[in-house]
Amino acid sequence: MQLIDGKSLAKKVQDNVAKEVEELKQVKNIVPGLAVLLIGDDPASHAYVKMKAKACEKVGFYSITHNMPETISQDEIIATIEMMNANPRIDGILVQLPLPKHIDTDRILEVIDPKKDVDGFHAYNVGRLVTGLDSFVACTPLGVMKMFEEYEIDLQGKDVCVVGASNIVGKPMASLLLNANATVTVTHIFTKDLKAHTSAADIVVVGVGVPGLIKEDMVKEGAIVIDIGINRIEDGSLVGDVDFKNVAPKCSYITPVPGGVGPMTIAMLLSNTLKSAKKRV
Ligand code: GUN
Repeated sequence: MQLIDGKSLAKKVQDNVAKEVEELKQVKNIVPGLAVLLIGDDPASHAYVKMKAKACEKVGFYSITHNMPETISQDEIIATIEMMNANPRIDGILVQLPLPKHIDTDRILEVIDPKKDVDGFHAYNVGRLVTGLDSFVACTPLGVMKMFEEYEIDLQGKDVCVVGASNIVGKPMASLLLNANATVTVTHIFTKDLKAHTSAADIVVVGVGVPGLIKEDMVKEGAIVIDIGINRIEDGSLVGDVDFKNVAPKCSYITPVPGGVGPMTIAMLLSNTLKSAKKRV
């Protein structure tokens, strides 16, 4: 069993971004800029945004966080996004999800200029991803693909079971895997027999937010298991969606939580923002 070390791969990606930012500054006088919109008081969202801002600073980006109260109106959020769309110093716009209940998330995401949509959530970029065209791709699934690449895990013809069908993780993950010629099964809350699907797969990718969902008898011997879940349990510790202790011995590769997919998400956000800045005219 080999651990896939997301922490060190994320550092490698970040170091490369920092190097390219330095070059971009020297050669073209461009400083990549990221705007983050944070709405409400969700502690997890605040923690993630803080980590994102810190990472931006570390690689030499310009970054701003718009902190807005829970009670803000949809029109005010839209006006802020439109301001960021027009701001030439901003290459990437990220609206931290989830949004308060009175806000229409789909409407908000559609206002972001697709060329600044570094989260890859805009329908334009999702459509391009599905078609196999160059696009901004959601950071977490993109980070998983980077892991496969780094560990030279060949996806062609592999049976991959994606557990979870969210717009943020499961659906873009399935598209990326399909584009890489894997045979993809997407399971979700209405799937009749989850175990039948996971135990037949060469690779299981799970991101649903249910601690310990994937158990030892649900994966085959030698499987590759990618755990996207980050769950804080009662004792305060972080665990994934996989019963790591019992599943890991059966795997050829597995990602730990923490230190697996988590750090990759921020690294790919930096990478997407750099990609956008490089397209400035
Ligand atoms: N909430 C949970 N994951 C994400 C993410 O990748 N991007 C944004 N914007 N919000 C999230």
